[in-house]
Amino acid sequence: YVTDFQEPHRPQLHFTPREKWMNDPNGMVYYEGEYHLFYQYYPDSTVWGPMHWGHAVSEDLVHWEHLPIALYPDTLGWIFSGSAVIDKNNTSGLGKDGKGPLIAIFTYHNSVMEKAGRQDYQYQGIAYSNDKGRTWEKYAGNPVVPNTTPIRDFRDPKVSWYEKGGYWLMVFAAQNRMMFWKSPNLIDWEFLSEFGETYGTHAGVWECPDFFPMKVVGDGTTKWVLIASINPGGPNGGSATQYFVGDFDGKVFTLDETFKPDVTAEQAVWLDYGRDNYAGVTWSNIPESDGRRLFIGWMSNWQYAREVPTEKWRSASTLPRKLELHRLPAGYRVFSTPVKELQQLRRNEKVLAGSTMDKTPLPLESLFAPAATPEKNASGTYELILDFLITSPEASPFGVLLNNDLGEAYRVGYHPGNQEFFSDRRESGDHSFSEAFADKVTRAPRVVQSDTVQMHLFFDHASAELFGDEGATVITDIYFPGEIFNHISLYQERSGGVKFLGGKFYPLNSIWP
Ligand code: FRU
Repeated sequence: YVTDFQEPHRPQLHFTPREKWMNDPNGMVYYEGEYHLFYQYYPDSTVWGPMHWGHAVSEDLVHWEHLPIALYPDTLGWIFSGSAVIDKNNTSGLGKDGKGPLIAIFTYHNSVMEKAGRQDYQYQGIAYSNDKGRTWEKYAGNPVVPNTTPIRDFRDPKVSWYEKGGYWLMVFAAQNRMMFWKSPNLIDWEFLSEFGETYGTHAGVWECPDFFPMKVVGDGTTKWVLIASINPGGPNGGSATQYFVGDFDGKVFTLDETFKPDVTAEQAVWLDYGRDNYAGVTWSNIPESDGRRLFIGWMSNWQYAREVPTEKWRSASTLPRKLELHRLPAGYRVFSTPVKELQQLRRNEKVLAGSTMDKTPLPLESLFAPAATPEKNASGTYELILDFLITSPEASPFGVLLNNDLGEAYRVGYHPGNQEFFSDRRESGDHSFSEAFADKVTRAPRVVQSDTVQMHLFFDHASAELFGDEGATVITDIYFPGEIFNHISLYQERSGGVKFLGGKFYPLNSIWP
C-alpha cells in the first residue's frame, strides 16, 4: 500500500504503520545511532489477529523509516509483546565475528494450545540479529521461559542488564502480578520473586511491565519504578497504565513506604489519565551520556481500538516522552514530558499576550503579540505552552477549545474547584463506532500545589496530548473530527478568578516527507 500519509485522520506528528493493524510498541532499543521501534502488527487486517513484530527506525525519535516485518509467527505461536537489548558482551553466544548481537525477548502465544483448552499457551522466547536489527533468527532452543505452573496470562517480558548483580533481569506479567527472573546469558532463566497481588488495581489483567532505576530529580537518591498496564480498570475507562515506586535488592521489589497510601484498595497512580496511552514501555540502551528514560505508548484503548474509523490502518503511537521521577509532598511521581527533539517540527513561534478569559472563546490569533499578521492555523497540528494564574479557588473551569466549521469541538483544561485537569471529546466528531468512546469527560487529578497552572499541549489531526504542570499530570486522547480542527481559542465557563499569563504557540510541520 502506497500512502502519502494524507488520508482523513492520519496523524501528522505520530508514528503509524503504513497500513493494517498495530497495537503495543515492542522491543525499543537504541543501537548504533538508531532508535528502533517494533510493534504488535497484523499485516492481513485492520483488526487484531495473529501477531507479528512490525519495525521502524528513527535517528531523531521524530521521523520514522518503515522497515520490513521483523518477526513472524512460527510453530511455537504468534509473537506477542516484548523487549530488545544489546548483548554487548555476547553472553548469549549468539553474536557473530566477536560482536554481541541484538536480542529480542518476546511472548509466544500458542493459539492451537489455547483452543485446546490448555493453560500453558504463553511462554517466552528469544530471537537474535547480527545486522542492526534488519533480519532476525529465532533461537533454536525456544522457549527460554516455559510456562510450567501453568499460568493463563504469562507474557510481555521486559529485559535489562542489572549492573549491580551482573546478570540479566526479566520482568513479565503473570495474570494479576509481575514476575522477576534472572539469567547470566538471556537463555537460562531462574525465578526470583513476584510483586503486585496485593497492590494497585486489579479490575483487569496486568500486562506489559517495565522496570528500571531512576534518579530522583534534585536529591541524588535512586528509586525503582515498576510500570504495569492493566486492561480494563483504567481511571477513565478501559485500558491504562499504573506504576509503583520502591526499592530493588537484586531479587525482590519492595514498595516505598511513602508510596503505599495511594495504592491500596482500588486506588492507583497512573502514568497518563487519558484514555489513549496503553502498553507503553521505555527504550533500552540509551547511552549514559544521554541519560534519559524515553517512553512511548500505544495511543488507543482496547475498549474501541478495533472499531475506530480509519480505513487503511489502525492506531498510532503516542509522542515519545521523557520520564522523570520527582518527590512531591504527595509522594513519588513520574512526570512525562515530550522529548526535546520534537522542537524541530516548530514552523514558527507566536508569543501570546496575557488576557482575561470568558465564555466567548478568545481566538488565539487575537493574542499574538505584537499584533502579528494573523496566520490561518490550517495545518491542524499545533504545540502550545500556556501559563495561567488562579486568583480564586472558586474560579470556573477554563482551557483550550478546538473547533472546526462543522461545529465539532474538543476541550482540554483545568477545573480549579475539583483541582483536576480535564478533557472533553463528546462533541469532537465521529463516535458512532463505540458507546464508550465519548460517554464522559476525562478527569485527571492535579498532584502539584501551586497558584499557577501550566499546560503544554500537542494537537494532531486525530489526537491531543496534555502535559500539565510540567508533566506531572498527563492526558492523551484520540478523536475523529469530520474536518481538521482549524480554530483554537481560550475560554472560561464564567469569567473571573483566573488570568491567562501568556504563552507560546507553534504551528507544527508534519513528520512525513
Ligand atoms: C497489550 C497486549 C499484551 C499482548 C499483546 C498482544 O495490549 O494484550 O499483553 O502481548 O497486547 O497483541
